[in-house]
Amino acid sequence: MAVDLLLGLQWGDEGKGKIVDVLTKNYDVIARFQGGPNAGHTLEFDGIKHVLHTIPSGIFHDSAINLVGNGVVIDPVIFRRELDNLSKFNIDYKSKMLISRKAHLILPTHRLLDAASEASKGKAKIGSTLKGIGPTYMDKTGRNGIRVGDLEMDNWKEKYRALANKHEAMIDFYKADIQYNLAEMETEFFAAIKVLKELTFIDSEEYLFRAQAEGKSILAEGAQGSLLDIDFGTYPYVTSSNTTAAGACTGLGVAPSKIKEVFGIFKAYTTRVGSGPFPTELFDSYGETMGRVGNEFGATTGRPRRCGWLDLVALKYAVRVNGVTQLMMMKGDVLSGFDKLKVCTAYEYKGERISHLPYNIEAENVKPIYTEMKGWDEDLTKLRDPSEFPAALNDYIDFLEKELEVPIKIVSVGPDRTQTIHR
Ligand code: GDP
Ligand code: IMO
Ligand code: MG
Repeated sequence: MAVDLLLGLQWGDEGKGKIVDVLTKNYDVIARFQGGPNAGHTLEFDGIKHVLHTIPSGIFHDSAINLVGNGVVIDPVIFRRELDNLSKFNIDYKSKMLISRKAHLILPTHRLLDAASEASKGKAKIGSTLKGIGPTYMDKTGRNGIRVGDLEMDNWKEKYRALANKHEAMIDFYKADIQYNLAEMETEFFAAIKVLKELTFIDSEEYLFRAQAEGKSILAEGAQGSLLDIDFGTYPYVTSSNTTAAGACTGLGVAPSKIKEVFGIFKAYTTRVGSGPFPTELFDSYGETMGRVGNEFGATTGRPRRCGWLDLVALKYAVRVNGVTQLMMMKGDVLSGFDKLKVCTAYEYKGERISHLPYNIEAENVKPIYTEMKGWDEDLTKLRDPSEFPAALNDYIDFLEKELEVPIKIVSVGPDRTQTIHR
């Protein structure tokens, strides 16, 4: 049986959590493959909003196993909080969640290092969520990290101490003005490790080989978005993992030949939270309306998201890097009432018109060239069938499909599960 992927194509927050929840009924296993609690995946149903950070977005369905894959980095403290939230809704996570032994742990000192590194950067700061993601992946690739499987060994605390001591020296090096009480953070951390150890740790690649052999269906859930990919994103204003399709292979142990559908998810406009270039960013009333109507505040940090028109140059790039086979357009409802819509179809780059994403997309190099389209007035949030779409929305969708050469199979018209239209 093949593995399908679901990935964000922009700078994150496209609505991945919502769609994974909607699709879970079709799958036996939902597997997160990268990122950590920098993610905030929102699901809404029965009038309740849930935000997940590390736990896969299939957790509210009894039918699926939720796997935290080897590519994920886990902060036990945040993970514990997520579990506590699930308990409130009587979710039996112990029987339907598995954790890869090869997943790395975020230590309290990783969070402090993140803060010290950002503070030392001044104006050049990444705008990190400060969850310790960068430092944890640095220790992973530096071959110093502590993995979930280490918790089953007797000497893991010695390993922990050695690494934490090294981190403390590194924090001093930054001479950053950050206050902390490591002893308190460690008490919380060790208590959370105890809770984590009550869950099932597995050799997840082996589990997935068997699941495939038994004909089980697997959906890999991405975090962040393609433009935050460590290789293909707007470096250095990116996260520290491969958010693109290849990340699912390394983050789960799934062979490229086993991947079938690649669901690429995007907003009908663009948002970005944190620093970094954003060619179609708006500073006018259109951007302000997107932010207000779209409730564009980070699900993890609460920071306002920067908003702008849809950037097809960047989107086309993401479609190619990921080999997207089906598109999903989110939040079209937010654009209702706009007297016009603009879509960036090319860039003016050093005096030339280009239609690919160049190495440097800082504002001084790149100016967006727009195609203007008609907006729609109709409220989309009550629609349930494509036959009800206003003509201008159909024109918008047709235009994007033609430009991107991939069909848009889902149109989302609101945050709730039920506000999801299949085409
Ligand atoms: P993720 O990180 O990709 O899972 O996305 P987030 O949860 O961070 O951000 C998406 C936000 O948009 C959440 O608040 C969702 O509830 C909301 N949302 C998702 N789809 C739609 C939609 O079609 N319309 C509207 N208005 N909101 C949506
Ligand atoms: P989901 O999965 C949006 C951004 C941060 C910052 C940069 C690096 O909810 O789409 P990091 O904490 O990784 O060091 O931050 O990446 N970022 C996200 N932006 N959605 C996310 O996740 C993000 N995860 C990280 O704002 O600019
Ligand atoms: Mg999010």
